[in-house]
Amino acid sequence: MWCSRTALRRLALQTAPLAGIQRDMSTLPRVYVTRQIPPRGLQILRQSGQVQFELWDSDDPVPRQELLKKVRGCDGLLCVLTEKIDAEVLDAAGPNLKVLSTMSVGFDHLSLDELKKRGIRIGYTPEVLTDAVAELTVALLLATSRRLIEATHEAKTGGWGTWRTLWLCGHELADSTVGILGLGRIGVAIAERLKPFKVKKFIYTDVEPRPELAEMIQAEYVSMDELARRSDFLAACCALTPETQGICNKKLFSKMKSTSIFINTSRGGVVNQEDLYEALSTGRIAGAGLDVTVPEPLPTNHPLFTLKNCVILPHIASASYTTRNAMSALAANNLLAGLRGEPMPKELPL
Ligand code: DGY
Repeated sequence: MWCSRTALRRLALQTAPLAGIQRDMSTLPRVYVTRQIPPRGLQILRQSGQVQFELWDSDDPVPRQELLKKVRGCDGLLCVLTEKIDAEVLDAAGPNLKVLSTMSVGFDHLSLDELKKRGIRIGYTPEVLTDAVAELTVALLLATSRRLIEATHEAKTGGWGTWRTLWLCGHELADSTVGILGLGRIGVAIAERLKPFKVKKFIYTDVEPRPELAEMIQAEYVSMDELARRSDFLAACCALTPETQGICNKKLFSKMKSTSIFINTSRGGVVNQEDLYEALSTGRIAGAGLDVTVPEPLPTNHPLFTLKNCVILPHIASASYTTRNAMSALAANNLLAGLRGEPMPKELPL
């Protein structure tokens, strides 16, 4: 359950009791939390008695100038994926900053080189969101391939006439080949969920074969070209890095089957959206389901929104109460462990 804004503020401002003793908060490490995070994380910070923290008590991102002001002198920073943590923020924070904890599995919003240079440790939140992201990916895949959004629109707006033999037909998973671009925990979890739909074959590509993960879903390692050519459904599950930036482009789409469906629940930056628009509008591929775009939010007048064969969600893959609370708790525990100089539950190796 979400706390009210007032309750969250109260949590943040409360002094932290430690073994019955009221500590002088001003001597504790200072932490800035850049967003109203789900209650479990806040509770962990408060009950730890280990830090004094201030919170940007809003559901919207902290303005850049406010962030630059508030990080000054902090020992720890807990952020979400909308905050770009770069040299400017780190310079503003100054030499006290030891730990950065992001409430996300993605870390493309962090300047890793700058963090490494300053010896700042990074916590992130893999694994706790795998189930939620996999579940949403399957939902998006089915919504796109079976044209659910178009169908409900037709039903609501009078387009539903008599039963017609080929009206709103889509593509089914049974007997299909599903391709995974970037095989990690999430790719495996997606495949495990798709298997009962009678998928014939899983194939994947990555910088190198991932035999332990591939074995779990009997997936075959193939080249990028083969992935494009053979996949009936192609799911992008890779992290956004300089190497994967724009990797789903004209070259990839031009090799895909005209009946294939492209799904992206990783980061918008892995897709060249102009190339995707062309592939969808010319029928080069059958459809696309996107949970992530560039920019976010995608402007409502963006050409992709004009296409019936493109289903766009507002970056909600991990949006379940359980998962967002687990991410918040892990981010808090990473931060506290880092500030104690201990191994973090989930630390990003630099
Ligand atoms: C992440 O954690 O990086 C996800 O994109 C948030 O859902």
